[in-house]
Order: sequence, then structure tokens, then C-alpha cells
Amino acid sequence: MAFSIPRGTQDILPADIQKWQLIEETARNLFNAYNFSEIRTPIFENTNVFSRGMGENSEIFNKEMYSFEDKGGRSLTLRPEGTAAVTRANIMHSLHKSMSPLKLYYIGPFFRYERPQAGRYRQFHQIGVEYIDEDSSYADAEVIALGYHLFESLGITDLKVCINSVGCNVARPVIEEMVKQFLSSNLHKLPENIQTKFNENPLRILDSKDESVQAYIAGMPDIKAALTQESKDHFFSVLQHLDEMGIPYQVTNTLVRGLEYYTETVFEIVSDHLGAQSTVCGGGRYNNLSKELGGPDLPAVGFGFGIERTIMLLDHIKKEIERSIDLYLIPLDTLSRNFLFYIMHKLRGYGISAEIGYSDNLKSQLKKANKLNAKRVVILGEQERESQIVQYKDMISRTQTDVPNSQLIDVIINDFSLNESNQF
Ligand code: HAM
Repeated sequence: MAFSIPRGTQDILPADIQKWQLIEETARNLFNAYNFSEIRTPIFENTNVFSRGMGENSEIFNKEMYSFEDKGGRSLTLRPEGTAAVTRANIMHSLHKSMSPLKLYYIGPFFRYERPQAGRYRQFHQIGVEYIDEDSSYADAEVIALGYHLFESLGITDLKVCINSVGCNVARPVIEEMVKQFLSSNLHKLPENIQTKFNENPLRILDSKDESVQAYIAGMPDIKAALTQESKDHFFSVLQHLDEMGIPYQVTNTLVRGLEYYTETVFEIVSDHLGAQSTVCGGGRYNNLSKELGGPDLPAVGFGFGIERTIMLLDHIKKEIERSIDLYLIPLDTLSRNFLFYIMHKLRGYGISAEIGYSDNLKSQLKKANKLNAKRVVILGEQERESQIVQYKDMISRTQTDVPNSQLIDVIINDFSLNESNQF
């Protein structure tokens, strides 16, 4: 029977896993430095978390949700994003009461029914942060700096931070009216989907990928003219903090982002090396979401970035990450194998990654050691057993030392600078 996997999903195979682990580890280390704690929420939620969270006019809610009824007749949805789910979790557990500001991160799979293409999957993986119960412009800057820092730590520097502000609730209807007024006389010339958005969600027209629409919108007055003085001050403070930290950015007057919960600062980190899906990271402030989900009034800011798109960027800079092991043990007969098998067991207990060969052929075992990128190799045959001296090869410097059998474990542990306290 021939199997296939659902459209827009992929197996992540051992040959690729190093890149996934590198990204996850780099993120976890930085989150630790920035004092964020991990949260894990369910893969599916009650559908209303997302309908109320992301907005019923958002593209994701209308077209991209994997929603289904379970056997009990409940409407559930595979999570399309993390912000609404994390906000729901905070409302339920009141985490902000014991930890404020609440700085959370998450890593995991998300699901959107989108047309698959390069960098766009139906099951994709996001790493995100949510900085809750803090409205200072420093929090916005900290979150943007963290996003930028993350890519920089991975060696990905050819990126642009685009930033804008959509203001508060007061400004939103004014901005919508601005967009409508600007477009109304020429609406009939624009594509049909834009005409639908005009009535349902005019702000979404601004980040249309259609080039004719983009060219037209370029002439629009800056939406930030509709912002209250407070919102303008907040935005310029964020820019000032970014300047002070030396984070390069570009104010993009048409950037609004697709999810309806955004208020004030919105930003995206984009790359020219991702094709049509140029955004690797998106985020912003969402000061009303907690209240809208029935919780306390908690200002917040965060971002999410896609692991698959980050891997595309790693591939672009040709970052090769090779798996290696510490030690490969080569026995040349059964008695030697029994001895080395015991040694391997002991050394693994000290955290040394080790593998043993099961054929008696020296050449084929050396080949396997090379394939595994073994840093060291031990060779033991009848002759070495009789002389009580084994060959210990350094595969990096291509040197070899003779080690007495009885000292083998100590020599290897010493070599990898481990001590007894690391034993587990
Ligand atoms: P988003 O812009 O919808 O924001 O997604 C963030 C990132 O997830 C994108 O920039 C992209 O790298 C990745 N992504 C999204 N959809 C796909 C897909 N179908 N295939 C592959 N990668 C994808 C959010 O989800 C917000 N929750 C971010 C946020 C957190 N805002 C505030 N806090």
C-alpha cells in the first residue's frame, strides 16, 4: 500500500533535525537571557478562543481554520496561532497576578488551511513570545530586539525590520475611513477581492501582495496622521529605544498586519530570500485582547516566527550543521567486542556519545566511524588484547596514541574533560 501525507505537511527527517534543534536551542538560550518562561497550551482549543481572539473578519478565521466538531458536538479548532491561546491560558490561571510583567514563550506546531507553496505549509511551526501586562514602549523595543537578536545569533543578518503603528481603538475607525476615502473613487479599477475587503476589513487592503494595489496604495496619506498624540508618542519612543540599541528598522506606513487584535506598534522582519512569503517574523502590540476574551485589561506585545522559513534562511547562508559523535569503538573479534561493549556502556553513562561496530572488518568499521563524524576511534583486536595496549585515534588531528587497556575509560573521560560528577 502506498501512503501519502496530507497536503501542506512534511516529515522532518534526521538529516534536517540539526537545524531545527539549533533554532530551538538558540531561541531557548536567548529567551532565558531575556527572562521569558515557557508555556505549553493544547494543540486544539474551543473555536471561540480564536473567533473572539483573532477577529471574525480576519483572513485566518474566515478561510484558514481547521475547525471540527468532536463526538460531543463541541466546536474545536487546531490552533492557527499562539497569541489568543496564551492569552486564554493567562485569563484562566491569572499568571500575571504572581508574575508581572508576564513574559512567556512557546515552540510548537500550528495549523492553517492555506494554499501550500514554498515557505507556506498547512502544519507549520512557530516560536513566539508574549510580553503581558506591560504597556511601556521599552517592552515593544525589547521584543523587537529579541526577534532581531535571535536571527543574528543564527548568522542571519540580511533582514529588514519593518515597523508601523495602527494606534488605539480611537484611531481605528478614523484610519478605516481614511483608507476608504482614498480608495473609493477608483475602487472599480481594483481586483475583486480588494473590493470585498473594502467593506469587510479595509485595513487589510494596505498589506495586499498584489503589485497593482501596492503601487496605488503607495500614494496614500500616512495612516499615522489619525493617531492620538499618546499613540504617536509611544511609537516614537519605541523608535528611539531601537536607535539606542542600534537595531536597524524601516518605518513602513502601509504595514498593518492581518490579525485584528493589533493596537499601536506592529512590526515584521522580512527577507529578500524567501520568495513570495517574505515575512519570517511578525508581531506587535495587542492591548485589548485580554479584555476582549473576557479577562482583565492587560496590555501586551509579542511576536511569532516560522521555523520552516528560518530554515530556508539558514539554507540560503549555506549553514551546514553536521551531526557528529564523540567516539566510535572498533572491535576486531568477539572477545574485543565484549570488552568494548562494556566500555561503551560506561562512557555513555558519562554523557559521551559512543557507538560500536558489529562486524569484524576494520575497513568497513572505519568507514562507518567517518560517516558518523566520530571525533575519536578506539581499535581493539587480538594483538592489542595480548599486549594490553589499545589504539586511540584522534580523527580530527589524525594522530594516534597507545593506551593501556586498564586506563582506557579514564583517558577518554579526561580527553572529553568530564568528571565523575557528570555521571548519570
Ligand atoms: P503571523 O504573522 O500570522 O503572526 O505568523 C508569524 C509567522 O509564522 C510568519 O511570519 C511566518 O514565518 C510563520 N507562518 C505563518 N503562517 C505560516 C504558514 N502557513 N506556513 C509557514 N509559516 C507560517 C502570528 O501568528 C501572531 N500570533 C504573532 C504574534 C505573537 N503577535 C503578537 N504575538
